[in-house]
Amino acid sequence: MSAGESPVRHGTWAAPGRVNIIGEHTDYNAGYALPIALPQTVTCAARATTDGLVQVTSRQHPDTTVRESIAGLAESRTAGWARYPLGVVHEYVRRGYEIPGAVLELDGAVPVGAGLSSSAAVECSVAIALRDLFALPVTDAELVDIGRAAENSYVGAATGTLDQSAAVLCTAGHALFLDFGKGEHAQVPFDLTATGLELLVVDTNTPHQLSDGGYAGRRGECERAAAALGVGTLREVADPADIEGLTDPVLRRRARHIVTENARVLAVVDALRGGGDPRAIGPILTAGHASLRDDFEISTPQLDAAVEAALAAGAHGSRMVGGGFGGSVIALTDADRTRPTAELIATRFDAAGFAAPRTFVAVPSAGARRVS
Ligand code: GLA
Repeated sequence: MSAGESPVRHGTWAAPGRVNIIGEHTDYNAGYALPIALPQTVTCAARATTDGLVQVTSRQHPDTTVRESIAGLAESRTAGWARYPLGVVHEYVRRGYEIPGAVLELDGAVPVGAGLSSSAAVECSVAIALRDLFALPVTDAELVDIGRAAENSYVGAATGTLDQSAAVLCTAGHALFLDFGKGEHAQVPFDLTATGLELLVVDTNTPHQLSDGGYAGRRGECERAAAALGVGTLREVADPADIEGLTDPVLRRRARHIVTENARVLAVVDALRGGGDPRAIGPILTAGHASLRDDFEISTPQLDAAVEAALAAGAHGSRMVGGGFGGSVIALTDADRTRPTAELIATRFDAAGFAAPRTFVAVPSAGARRVS
């Protein structure tokens, strides 16, 4: 803020959900990923107060108003959706930033539990709102870390920084190449419409939870595999042949997913940067699904059925996205095949007795920002 300029007292900020093109479970292994931001956002209408309280409401939970003392957030027992915004306020305070008081009204259009990062969208919309409201000297990298820390320590989900990085750093028309080991990122042009393609997102309507055991279990296995291989993180395994030295077959499979997934991210980035036909990345996406299904073992019958139906309908590639155990699938389709692909998936889900899937086309969109 320059001299004489008064701080913002209220406004509305937005942060998007994401789909990951490729690079799953690589973030906490210091590897690579390539997400895009979705057009769907969570908005946070925020107002500065001075009463030492944070008040949170959500359009999706109209019956609840949460009001807590900011100084007492470490002891808060509030559970459920409000714990995410409270966690962000708490994280700012824990880092020594002053939050005199705030009223936060959330409105989320990112499907919840669909593997599309609704949690990070909440965290990052609140984090950017508070940064601007109180003119806090916080870089984008710290915004990402504040969201991650709120999720890890306050909500209790042992996630990496993929989702918050996407929510803050993505730009319209681009995929975001993330190098978690080096803490670097780069924008990669990702304009599918120019080549007659679309990215279909299929929410299989089977919600997942990152704070239950499956996600943390995989993270622990990756750490044990790295320790057994004598490396700090699985990113350091350059030659996939090294993995064969792991005697535990489960750890061998987990490590193989991470090492091959990192290679897939680099191959997709090379293909996109080379300016060739993006259809070339399709088989790499499908190989990523097989790896998540067979080596990382986090797919479900619904996710597998959606991928198989998409490929049967002529998709160039398809895979599950996000943390796994439910959630969504992406399919790279010729634009005129998007609707028949969605229809075949719905027909097969119906025949299998699965809940009806929800589909939409994802366009690479902007990261967190002030909207009014
Ligand atoms: C969830 C986590 C991320 C990442 C993905 C899997 O979305 O929040 O940190 O690990 O799963 O790639």
